[in-house]
Amino acid sequence: MGISADQAKALKDCIAVVAQNPDGNGKALFIKMFEMNPGWVEKFPAWKGKSLDEIKASDKITNHGGKVINELANWINNIDSASGILKSQGTAHKGRSIGIEYFENVLPVIDATFAQQMGGAYTAAMKDALKAAWTGVIVPGMKAGY
Ligand code: HEM
Repeated sequence: MGISADQAKALKDCIAVVAQNPDGNGKALFIKMFEMNPGWVEKFPAWKGKSLDEIKASDKITNHGGKVINELANWINNIDSASGILKSQGTAHKGRSIGIEYFENVLPVIDATFAQQMGGAYTAAMKDALKAAWTGVIVPGMKAGY
């Protein structure tokens, strides 16, 4: 299951905005992820046992957040040919004890982060395209690496 050309365009327009500030938006994504799923902190060796305030203050959240946004942009900008990279990221995350269900459950976090960071520039078409790409391409692509 792929996504339509219109959906791909909407999603690329969306990530183009988000990727203008990978570090800031990546930090926001991590904060949102831990606010919505506090237990997920335990999966990150650098942050295990730390409070959200401590994590917010760590340099690593910015650096790490930037890498995640750039990776997300890489997937989205190559959405029609991303199966290889998705598969290898699936395997890499499996190796860190991150089950595929974390990826299934992270969509509301990404959606809420884009809504917060983009405000009115995050359109309904972008939101729909994100959901279609996540459920139809990204999660199945990662699953192939598990
Ligand atoms: C939103 C989609 C995601 C993307 C694009 C993504 C991407 C990445 C990338 C690129 C790295 C390597 C970073 C580096 O080399 O420093 C990484 C590491 C990692 N990811 Fe993800 N990830 C995502 C979601 C998740 C989720 C949902 C979890 C678990 C709740 C997770 C857990 C981890 C862990 C534990 C590491 C290793 C961290 C470390 O080395 O300290 N990721 N991820």
